[in-house]
Amino acid sequence: MCGIVGYIGHREAYPVILKGLKRLEYRGYDSAGVALINNGLNVYKKKGKVAELEEASVGKDLHSNIGIGHTRWATHGEPSDRNAHPHVSNNGELAMIHNGIIENYAPIKQELINKGYIFKSDTDTEVLLNFIEDIQKNNQCSLEEALRIALKRIVGAYCILLIDKNDPETIIAARKGSPLVIGIGKGEHFLASDASPIIEYTKEVVYVNDYEIAIVKADELILKNLGNEKQTPFITKLDMELAAIEKGGYDHFMLKEINEQPETIHDCLRGRLLPDAGLIAMGGIESHIEALKNAPRILIVACGTSWHAGLIAEYMIEELCRIPVEVEYASEFRYRNPVVHKGDVIIAISQSGETADTLVALESAKEKGAFIFGVVNAVGSSIARLSHAGAYTHAGPEIGVASTKAFTGQLAVLAMMALKIGYAKGTITYERYIQLMQDLAAIPDKVKEILQDTSNIQRIAEKYKDAHDFLFLGRGYNFPVALEGALKLKEISYIHAEGYPAAEMKHGPIALVDENLPVVFVATKDSYYEKIVSNVQEIKARKGKVIAVATHGDTIIPGMADDVMFVPDADEITAPLLSVIPLQLLSYYVGVAKGYDVDKPRNLAKSVTVE
Ligand code: G6P
Repeated sequence: MCGIVGYIGHREAYPVILKGLKRLEYRGYDSAGVALINNGLNVYKKKGKVAELEEASVGKDLHSNIGIGHTRWATHGEPSDRNAHPHVSNNGELAMIHNGIIENYAPIKQELINKGYIFKSDTDTEVLLNFIEDIQKNNQCSLEEALRIALKRIVGAYCILLIDKNDPETIIAARKGSPLVIGIGKGEHFLASDASPIIEYTKEVVYVNDYEIAIVKADELILKNLGNEKQTPFITKLDMELAAIEKGGYDHFMLKEINEQPETIHDCLRGRLLPDAGLIAMGGIESHIEALKNAPRILIVACGTSWHAGLIAEYMIEELCRIPVEVEYASEFRYRNPVVHKGDVIIAISQSGETADTLVALESAKEKGAFIFGVVNAVGSSIARLSHAGAYTHAGPEIGVASTKAFTGQLAVLAMMALKIGYAKGTITYERYIQLMQDLAAIPDKVKEILQDTSNIQRIAEKYKDAHDFLFLGRGYNFPVALEGALKLKEISYIHAEGYPAAEMKHGPIALVDENLPVVFVATKDSYYEKIVSNVQEIKARKGKVIAVATHGDTIIPGMADDVMFVPDADEITAPLLSVIPLQLLSYYVGVAKGYDVDKPRNLAKSVTVE
C-alpha cells in the first residue's frame, strides 16, 4: 500500500527518493510522485510505475537536497495523475504526501469549499493539506503549529510528510496508525514507510510513534507529541542486510522467498527449540507463562495468510493446551462489538505488523484489558510495539506480495508456543513434547528436500494453467492449508479458487465437479487419511481432475490422483509446514506461465494500512 520516502541532507534528493520508491514497490501501488524544492516547489507525478515517473521527469529540474516521494494505492479517487501525491496547497507553498485515510475529510472539505478553496484531486490528502494551509493563515502560526492543530481535528490514520517552499531546510512528518521510520545519517536524514529504502545508507533508525510529529533537518531531528512537548528519539540498530531485499539471482522475489524457507524456518527455531535439553526458550512466553497457560480462552486475530496460520494454531493449541481458541478476521472482530474480558489472551499474527485492521482490532481489545501476544515478522513494527509480549518469526523481509516464508515462520512460532504452553500446563506428556520438538527440528531439511526438484510441480502448473476454477480440499490441520493454497492461486494467477474442508464439499461445491475442474487435495498421511481417501473417490466418481499433495511412500492416494506432488512424512501438527510448499510453488508457476507479475499482483498490496 502507499509508500513514503523523504530525504534531506547533502546528497541529491531525487535519486535517493526514486531508488527508495522502487524499494517500496512491493507494497503495491498505482501511481507515483516526487516534490523537490529548488527555487520553488517542483512536483512531478504520474499514474503507473515509478519507472514511468522517471521517464516523464527526464529533462526537468530535479536538483534539490530536500524532497518527498510517494507511491499511491488508490483509496479516494481513481488512480490518475491528478490524484497521485504529492499534493500542493492552494497557495502553492506546501506539498504533502500521505499514507492512510482521513475519515472525516468530507465536512472539512465542505468547510474549505465554502471559504473558496479549490480542489484539484478527489483525495482526502488534499483536504488535509488545505486545512493546514487555512489554519496557518487564520492563526498566523508556524507550519508545525498548524499541523498540530489540524491533526487534533482529524479522524483516521496517517503518515504524512510535509514541505514548505519557503523553508528548504525542513521536512515535517507525523504519524498515527501508518508506519514511519527515520534513518539517521551524517548530516542527512532519510524518511520512509519501512526500512528498505534506508538500509543502504544507514542502520541507525528511529521508529516514530503514533501522535508524534518529527521536525527533520539535515543535521537535526526533533520529535514532539501533539501537546508540543519534546520526546526523546529512541535510536534502534537495523538487523537487516541489503541482500535481504534484493533478488539474489532469482527471477522473482516470490521464488526466492519460497526457496529461503529451509533457512528462515531454521532461523526461527534457532536458539529457541532445544530438543536435546527438553526446552523451548522463548522469553516472551516465559515471562508471561501464567497468563498464557491459565487463559480461559485464546482469541487469534489476523488477516489473509496470517489468518490461515491462526486457524492451524487453533488446532495446535486446542489439541496440545486444551484451551478454547477462536480465530477472528481482524476486520470483523473490530466492528462486531466482540466480548473481550480482562485476562483474555489475544494472539495477533501479522507479517508486516502494520495491517490496519489488525492494529485497530488490537487497540480496542487492549483497552478492554486483554493481554496481547504478537507473532510478527517485521521487527519494530506497530503491532510488535503495541503487544504486551510476543515472538518474532525471523523470516527476514518478505517482498513478494503473496506471503510464503512469513507463513511458515508463523507456523513454526505458533507450534513452539503451543508446545511450550501445553507442556507447562501438563496437557501433553514429556514424550509427546520431545517427539514433537524433534519433528519440528527436522522440518527445515524436509522443506529442502521438497525444493530440490520442482520440475514436476512446474509440469502440473503448465497442464492446468488454463482452468477457470480450482477447488482446494483438506481435513484437520490440512484444511487451512487448502485455504492457503486457494488464496495463493487467486492472488498470483487470478484464477478463481475455493478452499473447503474436504468433507463439507458434499454440501455444495461437489455440484461444481466435472471433467474440467481441477481439485487439489492436501492428503498427507495423518489421522484423517482414510476419510480423505473416500473424499478423493467421491471426486473421481464425478470425473473431477485430482491433483494431490501426498506423503512419500503412499500408494493409495497417488493411485487415484491424476497428478501428485509428494512431501516427506511428518507429524500431523507440523505437516502444514511441508504441505503448503508445493501449493506455493504451484501458484507461482501458474502465475509465471500466464505471464503475470507474480511479485506485484494487480490490486493487491503487501502492507494493507487502510481499514
Ligand atoms: C495483505 C497481503 C497478504 C497478507 C495480509 C495480512 O493482504 O497481501 O499477503 O497475508 O495482507 O498481512 P499481515 O502483514 O498482517 O500478515
